[in-house]
Amino acid sequence: MKFLTIKEAMKKRRGKVALRGWVYRERKSNAYAFIILRDHTDIIQCVIEKKNVSSKTWADANKLIIESSIELEGTIKEDKRAPTGYELHVSKLDVVQFAERFPIVKDQSPEHLLDNRHLWLRSRKMTAILKIRSTVFGAIHDFFRSKGFYEFQSPVFQSTQSEGGSTVFEVDYFGDKVYLAQTWQLQAEAAIFALEKIYTVAPSFRAEKSKTSRHLTEYWHAEMEKTWCSFEDLQEYAEELIKNIVKAVLKENKEELKILKRDTKKLEPIVQKKFVRLTYDEVLNILKKKAKMKIDWGKDLRTIEEDKLSELYNVPIIVSNYPKTVKAFYMKEHPKNPKVVLGFDVIAPEKHGEIIGASEREEDIKKIKENLKCVGENPKDYEFYLDTRRYGSVPHSGFGLGVERVVAWICGLDNIKDAIAFPRTMLRKSP
Ligand code: 4AD
Ligand code: MG
Repeated sequence: MKFLTIKEAMKKRRGKVALRGWVYRERKSNAYAFIILRDHTDIIQCVIEKKNVSSKTWADANKLIIESSIELEGTIKEDKRAPTGYELHVSKLDVVQFAERFPIVKDQSPEHLLDNRHLWLRSRKMTAILKIRSTVFGAIHDFFRSKGFYEFQSPVFQSTQSEGGSTVFEVDYFGDKVYLAQTWQLQAEAAIFALEKIYTVAPSFRAEKSKTSRHLTEYWHAEMEKTWCSFEDLQEYAEELIKNIVKAVLKENKEELKILKRDTKKLEPIVQKKFVRLTYDEVLNILKKKAKMKIDWGKDLRTIEEDKLSELYNVPIIVSNYPKTVKAFYMKEHPKNPKVVLGFDVIAPEKHGEIIGASEREEDIKKIKENLKCVGENPKDYEFYLDTRRYGSVPHSGFGLGVERVVAWICGLDNIKDAIAFPRTMLRKSP
């Protein structure tokens, strides 16, 4: 008999089916063994009745413990009392492997679950998150390709830092020092002179020494770079990308959002409403008035301030025109105010923090050199980058979106670690 997935079998609604997967839950009595079977699509209650099966099958059924792998044949029918509305009456059981006692039981500490992450991936929660994550990646690729962007890759080994020396990972490279990429951006800025519209989804690395719920040391970074792209165009791309991601998840992952108990009413405005656009100065005023938070001009927004701001709206907030001193060396100086840059952050709703960092790029080679010196870098180390401003420089812009931050927000997770299968943080490098 051809194996069906649990979902396919439930769609069929009745009749004989063959299923395979893992024991998710089990309960036994003198006459019955109740097995909840799990596969990648769903779970289903399966009943093995002693009087209907061979004595070997009954003996095997009694030895089954959770996570044992099995193949089953039987008749499926609707049953309102069963966890997913259907029940399989088993006529044949083949045990593929009797599992050893599973090291995860109910209500275990987050640390235990992280130590056993390779096994915890099988939980309904992690499975639901990983499915949503897959939708998010698909939506990012679909979005950029539908807009005519080329997928372009930068090297992970880099000869310089790009997003600040304090979070850069050093690697010994045959006796030389190189750094793991914090962004693809610098090479991307060279590549747009050939391809004009490019994007990537790739790991970025940050030596984040802080223990926060938002920082990974290795995260997936969706970045875009485009020629002739104004600051306003860039904001449109960011907004459209986020809308497309949320739309895809709402369409494709209804069940997963339900498993995660995510209130989808909170996600619907993202697709329907225009995002809020504020300048840094406006944010300072709003936080002062509405939250009595006083921020000295020139200071970066801190987590508590971004969180407070996010609570005032039900859509993402695009905050632009930050002070030049808190932003990266490549951001374009505002033509009317040299103290601020044409850069923006997108702050997610519900206290999920910055999900996008973006800017128009500085074209003035002198200013780039000055900015580099200001952050203690030697412009000589950036010659290839400066060349992009020497041979037909054009206005261009780009942004980077932290995929795990977006997944954490869409899934309503407290901690970014659950937005990736095998999280890497200062304190965690295995499994
Ligand atoms: O704001 P960032 O540092 O910007 C850049 O790297 C630019 N070069 C991007 C570009 O213009 N091409 O990082 C971009 C985004 C942040 O908004 C955040 O969502 C995410 O990357 N991010 C992190 N996500 C998880 N863990 C970390 N440690 C992160 N650091 C940044
Ligand atoms: Mg940033």
